[in-house]
Amino acid sequence: MPHLITPHLITIENSGERFQSVDGMSVLAAMEQARCRGIPVGCRNGGCGACKVRVTSGQYRTGKMSRAVVSVADEAQGCVLACKTYPQSDLGVEALGRILQTGPSRATSFSFAIPRPESPRSEREA
Ligand code: FES
Repeated sequence: MPHLITPHLITIENSGERFQSVDGMSVLAAMEQARCRGIPVGCRNGGCGACKVRVTSGQYRTGKMSRAVVSVADEAQGCVLACKTYPQSDLGVEALGRILQTGPSRATSFSFAIPRPESPRSEREA
């Protein structure tokens, strides 16, 4: 008898987007496959926290998540990382994460002075 793959309906409550996931696919991967954008995407590997969500309904399991972005207390309240969350029933989620600021404004925080070489005195000043 062939293994039956059960699709699960995922609803992002902030955006109203709905899409399907199958067993073994993370919430974030399913969202990207469906070309939805309701959950911010970052590292896709449980480390940055961009895809943090609160699960409001349904059953799920999680993979390894960085404790720097999801504490034990967060997890106990249903806050997880969508890239490491695997639905086991239909799910409702609320997006919580944000993409960290990157780009030119961050680069300007690094400033340092480069000493100027002594400029040679011109012939007129001499
Ligand atoms: S995308 Fe970085 S933790 Fe999920």
